[in-house]
This record gives sequence, structure tokens and C-alpha cells, in this order.
Amino acid sequence: MSQEKFYITTPIYYVNDKPHIGHAYTTILADVLARYNRSLDAPTFFLTGTDEHGQKVQKAAEAKGISPLEQCNDTVIRFQELWRELEITNDKFIRTTDGAHKKVVQEILQDLFDRDLIYKDEYSGYYCVPCERFFTEKDIDENKCCPECQRDIQEIVESNYFFRMSQYQEWLIDYIKTNPEFIQPAFRANETLGFLKQPLGDLCISRPKSRLSWGIELPFDNDYVCYVWFDALINYISGVGFNQNDEQFKKWWPASYHLIGKDILTTHTVYWPTMMKAIGIELPRTIYAHGWWLTGRDKMSKSLGNVVNPMEMIQKYGVDSFRYFLMAEMTLGQDASFTEEAFVNRYNSDLANDLGNLLSRVVKMNLRHRDGLIPQPNAYTKAEKTLMAAVDNAVEEMEKAIVDMRLNQGIDHVMNAVRAGNRYMEQTAPWTLAKKGDNERLDTVLYCAAEALRKVSVLLHPVMPGKMADLRKALGLSGEKLDNCHIGDLKKNDNILSGLEMNDIDALFLRVKLEEIEAIKLEPPKPAKKKQKAEKKVELPEGVITIDDFFKTELRTAKILEAEKVKGADKLLKLQIEVGDEQRQLIAGIAEFYSPEDIIGKVVVVVANLKPAKIRGVESQGMLLAAKTGKDLKIVTVDGEFPSGATVG
Ligand code: ME8
Ligand code: MG
Repeated sequence: MSQEKFYITTPIYYVNDKPHIGHAYTTILADVLARYNRSLDAPTFFLTGTDEHGQKVQKAAEAKGISPLEQCNDTVIRFQELWRELEITNDKFIRTTDGAHKKVVQEILQDLFDRDLIYKDEYSGYYCVPCERFFTEKDIDENKCCPECQRDIQEIVESNYFFRMSQYQEWLIDYIKTNPEFIQPAFRANETLGFLKQPLGDLCISRPKSRLSWGIELPFDNDYVCYVWFDALINYISGVGFNQNDEQFKKWWPASYHLIGKDILTTHTVYWPTMMKAIGIELPRTIYAHGWWLTGRDKMSKSLGNVVNPMEMIQKYGVDSFRYFLMAEMTLGQDASFTEEAFVNRYNSDLANDLGNLLSRVVKMNLRHRDGLIPQPNAYTKAEKTLMAAVDNAVEEMEKAIVDMRLNQGIDHVMNAVRAGNRYMEQTAPWTLAKKGDNERLDTVLYCAAEALRKVSVLLHPVMPGKMADLRKALGLSGEKLDNCHIGDLKKNDNILSGLEMNDIDALFLRVKLEEIEAIKLEPPKPAKKKQKAEKKVELPEGVITIDDFFKTELRTAKILEAEKVKGADKLLKLQIEVGDEQRQLIAGIAEFYSPEDIIGKVVVVVANLKPAKIRGVESQGMLLAAKTGKDLKIVTVDGEFPSGATVG
């Protein structure tokens, strides 16, 4: 079957700092999708790289007293090393300082300038260095901070060059509305459409060298360099031969997916489409914005000191389990929380217990009773049919999940098949069959359990390439059979395994390591008493909870900093609250009882550990407590002056 081609990209990452888990996530996701597509025989191209120009990088270099290019060269290695460690199979790594890329950017600039799509004008506005974004007066509130990241912005008045982005506004709105697959998940398309309700300005695409010299020079004015986003977005086409190799470009463009984090939605779904329209190329099929990895409940940030370093995770737990956790844990599109505890829990249950256990049972039984030679199966009974149905279901579901970008659900189906494998072993009890001398049944059971594992190894290979290769070797696969991880072939149901010789292996996911992990993670060994307490289940009358149950709810004081009505929702107020050092947004159904002015400054009580939710499309991080009768409502406040962030209980 000839498959449609698959061209996938990641954002190109800034080289002002070393990579962290967020960068690793997007890149692993792209890698897994690329591997799945190869496994489905689709011609695949996977592009990643680094965004090396702009003020962020220049500032990082200045802080270290090195040149910007040295900063780039030092940092790019960190990314490339990490991708090697993570077994990322990108077909190309693009750096925006590459000569070929710079040339393409300059050719595009010149072309747009010649066609009067770029013009010179006076610029007055604001610039956010962390986001590398321009904003106008109307984007900014009285606090004079960046509307995207809330950090300080710089006021700028200077002559600059502008791209006539505004003229594409109506076209873009229409394009997004008529191409629902263009921005995914769909709620992100609504976000962009929301943004496009305001008049779209022209895009400032230059910086005078007097202010910033680290960039690609404008071909028509050497006093200026190109704005870093205008330069960076072009990587998606310069990386596959645009203006260099027509055949290559035709082969891969338009991209199937631009994978991005939700932080860079506007640049990708507003700037980039209008640029492509002006350049005169087709738009990519889908821009997919995934959610955010949080540390526990907090945003990962350097200042909070809670950034997860992927290198450390790999060293501690291994590449494959790290890849597995990231893919299995995040529901694509939504935020997810990274904690080492959650990691260890999933590692233990899915990998060590379910998958590792099944493999070691199957290998041991074969070695013990068949000298390691996988037998020929006899007639299938209901038990075999149930197991094979679970596995075939996983194959089908995984295929669908890849197309629909529901990877974590696909993985869940595979793990269900693994658990069905363990149940199958318990039900059929091959150790009893061996004792009874029921060789006919034993052959079937040993074969079927191994076959289930073989199919699972193909399905999980894109996620855990190293471990699945180990698993396949344990099943006796070698050479071409070892390498053949084509999902398409799974449907053929060929008997590949009978006659192969299994290899004994240590636990696939080492228990020894688990104990080490537990030793690191658990508090110092507590007396056995504590354990007993945990094990003893006390029956409680219905509706009664323990004090421990109560304290699962984290109640905290919060100060209301800002309040405003939610447009189109009469009952809702959008609150900005301060909870200790943290600022959050919360939606409360109190607008019929309180006006915004009434409650600003009040210290209230909130549920601080509630899973964030979207209410009428607006994110709410927590819940405010209020007393209610049928007709009236009063918010719960604390008695007298009190700081925010204090625990309540
Ligand atoms: O924005 N959770 O680069 P960047 C999930 N150079 N993903 C995260 C994350 C987190 N906590 N933190 C970062 C830039 N990411 C530009 C892009 S593209 C033409 C130019 C991931 O180094 C996510 O993919 O700030 C996010 O979009 C990207 O890193 C931002 O990387
Ligand atoms: Mg960023």
C-alpha cells in the first residue's frame, strides 16, 4: 500500500540556554510520529533545529562575554547531544545561521520588498525579549508588561521595515474557518480566531543594527537585520529545499504537521500563514499545538528552579522509560504534570510489572519446558482468541490514534493488550499444563503469549526503540526479522516465531533499578508501624471521610488582584489572584452577586490543588469558596488582614 508522504517539524529552539524537558517532549513526540509513519511505510521527513538569531541569544552571549556565534556553537551541541541520547531520528538538523538558510531568507525578503509587500515606516511600540515579539500600545495594559508572558517590555521608537500582514486578515479568517484541520486541537483555532477579531496590524520585520546586530542582514538595507521570527519560520521551507532544490521541495512540501507548544500559537497561526500566502506557497496541513508540562501544578520556570533536566532523567531512568512516560502521560493538547513520583509510579506499573513481567514469564516458561524453542501452536481455545482479539484491537486502535493524534490512548490500548497477556498466563497456567504433561495445550500457550509480545513490540517500538529491540531479541528475532517493525505486517498474522530460539534476558525494566529509585524517592525508612497503618483498611460509615481525605483538598488564602466580567457569560467573573508568590487566574460564578470593584483586594479562600479547567474557553486554576442559599451567595473570606498563600484547615 502506498502511503501519503509525512513531513513533520518541531519548533527550532532558542540557543540562549540548554534544552529542558519541554524541548525534549516536542522532539520526542515528533520522533515517535515519524517512526510510526515509517512503520506504516509512509515516506517520512523529520526536521528539527535551532533558532540562533535575535536579542535573546545576543543577550545570553553578552552575559557570558562571548560572541553570539560562540554562544550558538556551544549551545547547539547540547541540543544535538540530547537528541542523540534520546535516539531522535531527525532527517535534518537546521541552524538558522546556516548559509543556505540565510540565503533563502534574504531571497524571500528581497522578493517581498520588490513586490511592495515590505515597506519602511516609523515604528513606535514595545518589544518583549523573552518572547521576541512586538506589541503595540493597544496590546499592553497599564502595568506595561508583555501580554503573552507578563514580563517587562521595552519601549521602542525607530524606523523599521514592515510586512503587509494586515491585508491578509480576512483571507486568514476564512482559511481557518474553511480548513478545520489547519489548527489543531480545534479550541486552538478558536483562540486564533479570537485574536483575529481585532484589527491585524502590519508586522515589523526589521531591527536597526544600532540596536541589535545579531541577525540576517536585510538585502535591501544593510543598516538593518531581519526580525528573528520572520527568519525562524522560514526554516520549515528552507530545510526542505525551497529555492534550492525544487524536486526536494515538491516532494515534502506542504508539511503534514508543524508541532508546536501552545506558547507560540500566534506566530505560527497568524504570522506564518500570512507569510506563506505572500510568498505564494501552500499552507501546511496541520499546525498542532500541544499543552504545557508543569512541575506539579506550577509552570516550569528557571526562576522557580523547577525545570526538569532531561539528561538527568535519562541517566537515572534510561531513555526508553523517559520517552514512554512523556508519551503515555500527556493527553495531546492538554497540560500535564511532571513529577518524579508520577514517573516512578508509571514505570513500576506499566513497564516493570505489566510488560516486564509478561516477558520474563514467557521467556522462563519456554526455556524451562521447550529448551527455549518457540513451539508450533495447536487449535486456539476461547482464551487464545480473547488474547489475540485484545492484541489486534491494540493494532487497530494504535493506527487510528496515530492519525488522530491520540498517542496516549493508543499506548493505553497496547498496555491493555499486555495486561490481557498476563491474565492469559494466569488463566491458562502453563506451569500446571507442564506438570500435567498437557503438551498440546502448553505449546499453544507458549506460542500465543510470545506472539502477543511480538506484536506489542512492533506497536511500542516507535516509543521505546531500544527496549523493544531487546524484547524482540529475547523472543529470538534477529537480522531482518528483528528490524521489521512494520505495523502493516501485523495484520498478516504470519507465524514468524515458531522454531525461533529465545534468549534469556535480565528483567527488561530492571527491578534493581526500581529499588534504587524508591530509595531515592521515599523518605527515610519509617518504622513498620506506618506501613501497617496504610495496609489496614478501616470501614467508614457512608459519607464520612477521614482527616487525611479532608487534607487532600488544599485550601489556601488568596488575594484578589483583578476582576472582570467574562464576555458573554453573565454569571462569571474572571479573577487574577495571588496565592503566596504565585499568580493565577480563576473563574468564579459570582457575577450576579459581586461586581468586580466589590471584590478586588479581598482575601478569599480557594481550592488550590484543583485540576485546571476551561470554563467558557477561559482557563481556571482553582476554585473559590462561597456560601450559598437558593437566592444568595457570599464568598468565604478570612477574618481581618491576612497574607495570601496561607493554608486553611
Ligand atoms: O519559541 N512544556 O523556542 P523555545 C511543553 N525559537 N513544551 C515546552 C515547554 C513546556 N514546559 N517549554 C518549551 C521558540 N516547550 C522559538 C520557536 S519556531 C519557528 C521558533 C517546547 O526555545 C514547545 O514546543 O522557546 C515550545 O513551543 C518550544 O519548546 C519553545 O521553544
Ligand atoms: Mg520560549
